[in-house]
Amino acid sequence: MVERTLSIVKPDAVARGLIGEILRRFESAGLKIVATKLIRLSRSRAEAFYAVHKERPFYASLTEYMSSGSVLVSVLEGEGAIMRNREIMGATDPAKAAPGTIRRDCGKDVEKNAVHGSDGAETAAWEIAFFFTPEEIHSGRQ
Ligand code: RTP
Ligand code: MG
Repeated sequence: MVERTLSIVKPDAVARGLIGEILRRFESAGLKIVATKLIRLSRSRAEAFYAVHKERPFYASLTEYMSSGSVLVSVLEGEGAIMRNREIMGATDPAKAAPGTIRRDCGKDVEKNAVHGSDGAETAAWEIAFFFTPEEIHSGRQ
C-alpha cells in the first residue's frame, strides 16, 4: 500500500550539514519527497508535537533540544513508507542501530539521533497535518 509518513531531520543533523545526505538515503530507498521545508519550532510547538511523551522523563530535554535549532520537516511517500522509513532510520539509540542506518551513521546519542519518523498510520496522518496543508503536498508531479 502506498503510504505517507512524516520525517524530521533534527537540529543536530541540520547543524552538521547532513540534510542532503539524509534526503539522498530516502530517495535511494524509493521514498519520494512530496513536501519539505526548513523551520524552527518554538518550545511550545515542540511540546505540542511530542505531547504523547508528556509523562516520559526525557520530555523536557527532548522539547528543549527540538526547539534549539532549525529542523527539516518532510512528507515521504511510497510503498509501505511508514515502516520503510523506520528501517532506514534504525533503532532510537544510534549505538544500538544497525550498520548502514541513518541513526547509526549520523546520530550522536539517544536524544540527538538525527531523525524522527512517524510510527504508524494514525500518527503519520496527525503529524503530517501538524506541519503541512494539503496544498503543500505534491505527489502527482512529473
Ligand atoms: P522518533 O519518535 O523521534 O522517530 O523516535 P522513536 O520512535 O525511535 O523514539 P520515541 O520513543 O518515540 O522517542 C522520541 C524521541 O525522544 C528522544 N528520546 N530520548 N533520553 C532518552 O532515553 C530518550 N529516549 C527517547 C529521542 O530523540 C527519540 O527519537
Ligand atoms: Mg516515536
